[in-house]
Amino acid sequence: MDKAVASSFSNGVEPTSPPAPLPQGEGSDTPFLAREGGEGVRFSEEHEDFPAEHFLDRVLHGDALHILPRLPESLADMVFIDPPYFLQLPRKSLKRWKVRTEVNGVDEEWDRFGSFEEYDRFLRQLLTEVRRVMKPKATLWVIGTYHNIHRIGAILQDLGYWILNDVIWFKSNAMPNWLNVRFTNATETLIWAVKERSVKGYTFHAEIARGCSEGRLALNVWRIPVCNGKERLKVNGQKLHPTQKPEALLQRVIAVSTNPGDVVLDPLAGTGTTGVVARRLGRRFVLIEREERYVEAIERRLEEETNH
Ligand SMILES: C[S@@+](CC[C@H](N)C(=O)[O-])C[C@H]1O[C@@H](n2cnc3c(N)ncnc32)[C@H](O)[C@@H]1O
Repeated sequence: MDKAVASSFSNGVEPTSPPAPLPQGEGSDTPFLAREGGEGVRFSEEHEDFPAEHFLDRVLHGDALHILPRLPESLADMVFIDPPYFLQLPRKSLKRWKVRTEVNGVDEEWDRFGSFEEYDRFLRQLLTEVRRVMKPKATLWVIGTYHNIHRIGAILQDLGYWILNDVIWFKSNAMPNWLNVRFTNATETLIWAVKERSVKGYTFHAEIARGCSEGRLALNVWRIPVCNGKERLKVNGQKLHPTQKPEALLQRVIAVSTNPGDVVLDPLAGTGTTGVVARRLGRRFVLIEREERYVEAIERRLEEETNH
């Protein structure tokens, strides 16, 4: 099995600006630096010179908006994206009214944007770059909550993507809503799309899809618990990542819409759930993640998966 390596990618350019020339690594003439214990990956500034093998089964450490333009065209058979939600939480701890326990929302720096305009710019740039690296018959999955999924849907359509389905992930162990001022939010939505309306012959394994839903029909409602127990990555008893997705969710996404040997891209990899499941199912993968602590967790997870 291939060993996952991560490459350091420094940017120093605003995420929404056009790609700048590749920066040089300190004390080296290679723009990518080998991580300790990892294998160096050398990038050329010519797009044509990037052999796909340099990226496969790897986690690339850096900003997706800077790395994606340097990946070769038509690299991916399937793309999974779990973008920041832009939850817009206030910068103070939130307590539940009656029980006074702390609300554990997504309050990380990576979920903060200055405005909807800035958030939309990020999504538009990301989804434009992703479209270029999708093979003609590739499919794209994007997951989100009511906070962001409607913006994502509109941007996908504006960019020319053609939506095949939305799939409702029903969280069978959703956190109860103690306030009783609105419904308990127990779902996320996955949008499944192709690059454009004319695309035919994309991968869809109907038998597997039937197995995902209740009853004989391949319904677009999936009942899966949120990630917890041994699967949940923790540091000193605290969740490492606030939005680690369950492997069971990625298992369905990958099994239904790819074939063994296909390349799966996840440009906002978080804890690397997509890569771990892709490896388990015999798919190739390319992961991108900006935060070093998550990149390290991905490497450990991939190694465990390999040695399993
Ligand atoms: C919602 S989380 C993904 C969680 C992931 N699906 C999992 O199962 O762990 C989004 C991730 O995108 C990363 N991220 C945000 N902006 C990024 C960017 N411009 N380039 C690379 N990674 C980015 C964040 O650090 C965060 O880990």
